[in-house]
Amino acid sequence: MVDDKHKDKLSFIDAELDRRNDRRQLRKIRNVLPLNGVEVNIDGRPMLNFCSNDYLGLSMHPLLQERSIEFIHKYGSGATASRLICGNYDFYEPVENKLAQLKQVEAALVMSSGFQANISVIPALADSHSLILSDQLNHNSLIQGCRLACCRVAVYRHNDLSHLAQLLEQNFDKGYSRILIATESVFSMDGDVVDMGGLVALAENFNAFLIVDDAHATGVLGRQGMGLTCGHDIDLVVGTFGKAGGSFGAYLACSEKLRTYMINCCSGLIYTTALPPAVVGAIDAALDLIPGMEAERKLLQANAAYLRGSLHEMGWSTGSSSTQIIPVMIGPVADALALSSWLEENGILISAIRPPTVPEGTSRIRLSLSALHTRKHIDRVIDVLQKWRSRKS
Ligand SMILES: Cc1ncc(COP(=O)(O)O)c(C=O)c1O
Repeated sequence: MVDDKHKDKLSFIDAELDRRNDRRQLRKIRNVLPLNGVEVNIDGRPMLNFCSNDYLGLSMHPLLQERSIEFIHKYGSGATASRLICGNYDFYEPVENKLAQLKQVEAALVMSSGFQANISVIPALADSHSLILSDQLNHNSLIQGCRLACCRVAVYRHNDLSHLAQLLEQNFDKGYSRILIATESVFSMDGDVVDMGGLVALAENFNAFLIVDDAHATGVLGRQGMGLTCGHDIDLVVGTFGKAGGSFGAYLACSEKLRTYMINCCSGLIYTTALPPAVVGAIDAALDLIPGMEAERKLLQANAAYLRGSLHEMGWSTGSSSTQIIPVMIGPVADALALSSWLEENGILISAIRPPTVPEGTSRIRLSLSALHTRKHIDRVIDVLQKWRSRKS
């Protein structure tokens, strides 16, 4: 027996990596060189990219690049401190006002990232006597936020408002300091959409505090593409700029009072360096462009419907997707990995998504479309998937 003083303190690392390897869940990162909005170079090979979140193709847009450079020239490369110290450069508030107007809310607050926002706003809103009701398929950042809140968390069945209503009914008079509901508007791994009207009505009915993560709808859906939360009475909306926004960072959209509260109570804003000028420059430019990109949004949704239709005709299941995020349900991890590799051999990049990101037995490949994809690009994917099917049968 090795005593505690002499045992290998790093053995847990080998054990966990071996466990993941055995289950084919070991993750690796690879170098990627972007070629344009829809192609990347990996290991010297050009590949058609169907797994980025750059839904509008803004990451390569000249206006975002120019505004980033303009902001760098004027303000430098870093904000030098937290916004509460001396990092609140004068570009933040105009961007937040622009965003609040577009989101049709009183106020907005720019945050470092969607992950950082979710893991810090939820703990800021809950206390140890609160109850959080969280959708079963919420993004990991919302799950971590709930954990960090150190209160009771009850998970309701995915997108099942009757289960949520049942939990609210059971708990609203149990003496909790408050009940919070946390959900996404468009679910990141399934591409399905919440019934926003129904959700808001439920929250109102039970006086629950509603948090909606609009990350995958911002830029893509809703009024002027500003998200599915637009026009709804939601206590707190979180969204990101790293997806359809084409750059990085995140936002909160809320009341003026809640903004002030977050400036005072949200550790993820207070104890971190403010976003660098280049990033805020790109955000500012994206906010100028997004409202006018109706044609791109229509094309994106038409392409998504065309792709889903073709996949269904071939007998693939796309779950309950109704957006630009289209999972192709596979099941076993090994099969999802094999399909992803086959696509890659054929010059198409589509990642396999496997546990723990999605529940056991629901491994999939996940396609996400960009407005820059053409029908030709989509037909190429359909063709390769068709070949995979015929090869297997
Ligand atoms: C629903 C959702 N929320 C939050 C995040 C995190 O956002 P960010 O990439 O800005 O950290 C993601 C993915 O990245 C997401 O899919």
